[in-house]
Amino acid sequence: MDQLILNESLKVGHGQIDAGHVKLIGIVNRCVDMVEASATLEAFNEVLNDLKDTLVHHIGEEEAIMQELGYPDIQGERKEHLGGLVRLDQLLDTCRDGVDLEALLREVAGLLLVIFIKSDMSFKSYLQSIDYYDEAPASV
Ligand SMILES: [Fe+2]
Ligand SMILES: [Fe+2]
Repeated sequence: MDQLILNESLKVGHGQIDAGHVKLIGIVNRCVDMVEASATLEAFNEVLNDLKDTLVHHIGEEEAIMQELGYPDIQGERKEHLGGLVRLDQLLDTCRDGVDLEALLREVAGLLLVIFIKSDMSFKSYLQSIDYYDEAPASV
């Protein structure tokens, strides 16, 4: 599987949120390298757990930012986050002997992109609607 990249269109325009997404994508890319290098299940599992911790942290930060900036659909976003975390837990549960690591990685990568990054595009539109300008956008 190819490395993921956070292209321009997926940037939210809020430095802290974009930096969080870059960090998450970096962890998934570590998994991509690990599958390539035929890493052990144990090592892979460790990185997936790191991904989950980083995601939980990111969600907390992101929801606080949304609240602070008066985002009207914060409930909908919370629901997306919770549903995504449940799904991630299910995927983590399948990470045991005999699992196809590459297939698992594809599911995890898809989940990250669809639930955790693309769902933030509504917030991006909101930021644009309030003329939010981040002085220090993530330089990635
Ligand atoms: Fe996010
Ligand atoms: Fe989000």
